[in-house]
Amino acid sequence: MPESQTNPAWDVLLELPSASSAGAAVRTLHGRLTSALRTAIRSGRVVAGATLPPSRALAADLGCSRWAVTEAYAQLVAEGYLEARPGSGTRVRWVQDDRASDVRRAPSAPPRARMDLAPGLPDLRAFPRARWAEALRAVTARATATDLGYVDPAGHEDLRAVLIEYLQRSRAASASSSAQLMLTTSTTSGVRRLCRALAATGHRSVAVEDPGWPRLSAAVREAGLEPFPVAVDDLGLRVADLGAWPSVRAVLTAPAHQFPNGVVMAPERRAALLRWAGHVEALVIEDDYDSEFRYDRPPVSTLQGMEPRRVALLGSLSKTLSPAVRIGWMLVPGPWADVLSHLESTPSLPPTLDQLAFARLLASGAYDTHLRRSRRTYRARRDLLVAELARLLPGVEVSGVAAGLHLVVNLPDGVPASSVVRGAEARGVHVADLDRYRAGGSGPPAVVLGYGNITDALVPQAVALLADVVAEHRTGARSRPAGRRGGGRTS
Ligand SMILES: Cc1ncc(COP(=O)(O)O)c(C=O)c1O
Repeated sequence: MPESQTNPAWDVLLELPSASSAGAAVRTLHGRLTSALRTAIRSGRVVAGATLPPSRALAADLGCSRWAVTEAYAQLVAEGYLEARPGSGTRVRWVQDDRASDVRRAPSAPPRARMDLAPGLPDLRAFPRARWAEALRAVTARATATDLGYVDPAGHEDLRAVLIEYLQRSRAASASSSAQLMLTTSTTSGVRRLCRALAATGHRSVAVEDPGWPRLSAAVREAGLEPFPVAVDDLGLRVADLGAWPSVRAVLTAPAHQFPNGVVMAPERRAALLRWAGHVEALVIEDDYDSEFRYDRPPVSTLQGMEPRRVALLGSLSKTLSPAVRIGWMLVPGPWADVLSHLESTPSLPPTLDQLAFARLLASGAYDTHLRRSRRTYRARRDLLVAELARLLPGVEVSGVAAGLHLVVNLPDGVPASSVVRGAEARGVHVADLDRYRAGGSGPPAVVLGYGNITDALVPQAVALLADVVAEHRTGARSRPAGRRGGGRTS
């Protein structure tokens, strides 16, 4: 409890039992006060580190003698609940044991497997805590009164200024007057907001990649639109298939690094998609979720940079820093920005001080430094994972390795992905069944391995356990040729 909060209504907080309801041992006023304070500390209502009011002040609040308070404090110091420091008052020292805090905690999700190879998270151990804390402290000290009021619904102008510059230089995004940068709390929230704008202007559906990230399809549905799955092949979204849905005039795609297949949209598909968008006056929602991490050649630039009048570029810090930061953005064609601002008077934004802290990291170069370091870490981890997979699962094709934080292990024929996922989970390894991301349910068996949030040291062990599980299920498939899709190839 911060010092500023140490003056709550102590009479309410302490729930002083009446003399008649208290047990024989606590009939005296100081005894009842001791008991009430002890209960408040044990229950967590008064937390470790909190400063108690001076005895004179508490006595005045409670309408009792100062002696009763000093007696209660002395008793609890002796019991170890409080500590009295000359000059700095009396503080709560007692820290609840785990059982006590568990009682108050909401029932939590089952613990995650020890070796987390599920896709979706960056390296959370590498969050630049010191940099972030320093930036937050600095902007909190410097924020103006205006900064602390209601900022522009598109986000704080300081962040938008440095962010647009970053998107131009790192993603070849277009900052032409036909595009407006708006802050979001995540890519998912940006998709939801844009879909609401589509719904408000008469759209009923959005084409989504199949397979794809299910939370984005859920966001489409939450906005009242229907997601129409369009297949993805080795060149990316099958743009020609959009013709099967003449009523669809919006598409959600991740051209820089398709999820989960990891395909980069081929130049001819990019051109075809933009031609289609121009022809039917469509909105292309470009999910640029992990484009910062491309290992074997420079990142591909954005569709938005090629056609800012038709493409909204969406990104966030979920894969570069942490999803807990809740900062994202969308660079939206002007007319769609207008629809959004009519539709939403108070869009949910990241907290202004967090926006300013990120602006500071961007402007100082600390964000770029973090990205460079992360890229090196992930490339080395990817190399290790690919090498271990080749060593322990020879003949099994691995794909989507050139970028991002995940790859796909295409299982041999006859090895059911769901059984592999269950078997791996039982051994403490968390991986995802690719079917989870398929609109139509099932396809060739494959598992998706995310390597963002596992330690390098655990990679060999996790792959060895996964290989054991695959071997168990492979018996029935042994007569068939292994790696039917190119055996051992990595792409
Ligand atoms: C393909 C894809 N797009 C978007 C997102 C969501 O990002 P955000 O946390 O910014 O909503 C994810 C998250 O894992 C993702 O995998």
